This record gives sequence, structure tokens and C-alpha cells, in this order.
Amino acid sequence: MNRTVLGVLVSGRGSNLQAILDAIMAERLKAKIGVVISDTPDALALRRVAGFDIATAVIERRRFADKRAFEQAIARELGLHHVELLVLAGFTRILSGEFISQFAGRIMNIHPALLPAFPGLDAQAQAVDYGVRVSGCTVHFVDEGVDTGPIILQEAVPVLADDDEHALAERILHVEHKLYPRAIGLYCEGRLRIEGRKVIIGEKRQVL
Ligand code: GRF
Repeated sequence: MNRTVLGVLVSGRGSNLQAILDAIMAERLKAKIGVVISDTPDALALRRVAGFDIATAVIERRRFADKRAFEQAIARELGLHHVELLVLAGFTRILSGEFISQFAGRIMNIHPALLPAFPGLDAQAQAVDYGVRVSGCTVHFVDEGVDTGPIILQEAVPVLADDDEHALAERILHVEHKLYPRAIGLYCEGRLRIEGRKVIIGEKRQVL
């Protein structure tokens, strides 16, 4: 079976990248990471793939005259590595509508809240400050809004009385690491279909 080629966009710690890599190594996820692109040169994420046969690229915004040129450089790199699915894993920049339309239905993101609650930055702090009893994480396709795209998978975690944003972030992160590889796996198995706002998850096909 041909493995879906992933491009992973990162900016920092890369624990979700690690979870994806671990799932691939354990054959739980039948995909291949074609390239990891970071917009920050010293991202820990880049060090996580060192020693594996995985291409990396650093593409810094400040090296380009404008956002368009920056995104064109990213798109070029993805093309070079024949990336089919672009996975945002802690990438801190908002991609333009023009970029997203080039990869329509082929960009995923993970957000540390149960969307549509608490989109944008500091989702865990937003949840703690609001006083919700339950939060969680959401894997969704990326559309032109911020954290508004069709939802693929969600999982809830409790918010405990003495949680601060860090304790909640930790509890959510643990679930993120299971949920993201699972959602990517569904895509790789050809089981995700976008119908308007909804993502339909198809049956697992029998391999004869
Ligand atoms: C995660 O909490 C993810 O939900 C959010 O950014 C964080 C990235 O963490 N989009 P890491 O870089 O994968 O460790």
C-alpha cells in the first residue's frame, strides 16, 4: 500500500510531531513524513527528527519581503517532497486564504480546546478562566478562518478545580498525542469526506 506523504509545519516543541513519528515507527500509522518545515531555526521539533531519514527545512518569515513570498517558499518545499497532507503541529502563523485554497481539504490542525469553544491563542487559559468543567482537543481541517474548519475528531478531558492553564494543557496534550495520529490515519485510509461543515468518517475497508 502506498503511504500518504505528510508535510509537517512546526514552530516549537514538536511533541505532536513526536507522537506522529512514534505512531509511524510503531506501524500504527501508515504514512511517511516527507518533510518537516519550521519557521524558527532552533525549534526543538527539528531535533526530534534528526537521525531519521526525514528532510527538514527552515523557512523564516523575516527572510521574505512579504507573507506571499514566505508561503510560496513553503509551498515549493512541499511540492519538492510530493506532500499530500499538510499537518500543522504547533505552527504559530496564520496561513493566508490563497495558500489554504491551494491545499483545500488537505491541511489539518490540532487545537487544545473543544471547538468552537476557545479558538485562537491560549485556549487552555481561556478554558480555565471561563470556568468550564470539561475541555479537550479538536483535530480539524483548516479553512480560511482561525480554528473554524470542519471537525474530524474531538476528545474531552475534565477541568479540575485546582487546575491552572499548565495542568490543563498537560492533560489535554496527553490526549492530543493519541488523537492526532488517529485523525491522520483516517485520512491516509481514505475515510474522510468533507460535506459542507461536516466531516464524514467512512467505514474501514476490508483488505482482502
Ligand atoms: C499543542 O497544544 C497544539 O494543540 C497547539 O500547539 C501545541 C503544539 O505543541 N496547536 P507541540 O509543539 O506539538 O508540542
